[in-house]
Amino acid sequence: MTVDHETLTGWLTRLELTAIRDQLDSLLDEAARRELTLREALAFLAEREVARKDERRIEMAGKIAHFPTVRDLDGFDFAAQPSVDPRQIRELAACRWVAHGEALLLLGPPGVGKTHLAIALGRAAIRAGYSVLFVTAPALVAALAKAHVEGRLEERLGFYAKPKLLIIDELGYLPFEPNAAHLFFQLVSRRYERGSLLLTSNRPVGEWGTVFGDPVVATAILDRLLHHSHVVTIRGDSYRLREKRRAGLLQKAGPSLADTPV
Ligand SMILES: Nc1ncnc2c1ncn2[C@@H]1O[C@H](COP(=O)(O)OP(=O)(O)O)[C@@H](O)[C@H]1O
Ligand SMILES: [Mg+2]
Repeated sequence: MTVDHETLTGWLTRLELTAIRDQLDSLLDEAARRELTLREALAFLAEREVARKDERRIEMAGKIAHFPTVRDLDGFDFAAQPSVDPRQIRELAACRWVAHGEALLLLGPPGVGKTHLAIALGRAAIRAGYSVLFVTAPALVAALAKAHVEGRLEERLGFYAKPKLLIIDELGYLPFEPNAAHLFFQLVSRRYERGSLLLTSNRPVGEWGTVFGDPVVATAILDRLLHHSHVVTIRGDSYRLREKRRAGLLQKAGPSLADTPV
């Protein structure tokens, strides 16, 4: 059976086998050069197509997730952060906690890599096939409060309840407005035992009553969050400042030039 190039690429287009279509000649050449059997050649082509489809899906899901930057575990320097157990993080990157709808809290002072790890774990969840949305706590609360005023709260809660993993970054940097704790509670209960939450905070859980501005609602929120949860507490110095210090932009505390005898 002889089929001209155009007909064949037309069929591949209809079948949405675009990776095979776009590299048809080079893939066929390679299959011939490697003297693949028909079965091996089919597997070789299918593998390329699946790889391209995965790449596309991950790229699209990454856009939908709205990560503020690109961060991966490969870029995380575990040696610089001894309070983080690399095995625990790699285990979390396998995403079983996401599959089970559990919560993850990343706690620690500014600059220690909470957002970095949150994004990296979010990207791992996307690669594992889960939908992810990243939002900062102030943006989330503002969006819920606005929707509440406009009578569209249900719709907004639905939006934030939908992704399998919702990452809420920077809880505690700003105190909640009155009423915000209650909106946040509604979201947490809506997602409870259905979708996973990843929260980062610079405040220990014991201070969340103050963060939410309402100890009763804070207890109700924590009750749900901590029920099936993993907690990673990061200690130590800010990585940002450490880098600056290394570059000589910041001096470690010590004698200043003025103290140096001439
Ligand atoms: N252990 C680390 N290895 C590599 N980069 C790090 C590490 N910790 C922090 N960073 C980088 O330092 C910057 C600040 O980290 P970030 O995750 O934003 O801190 P946090 O969210 O805890 O305030 C980011 O650019 C991040 O990628
Ligand atoms: Mg951060």
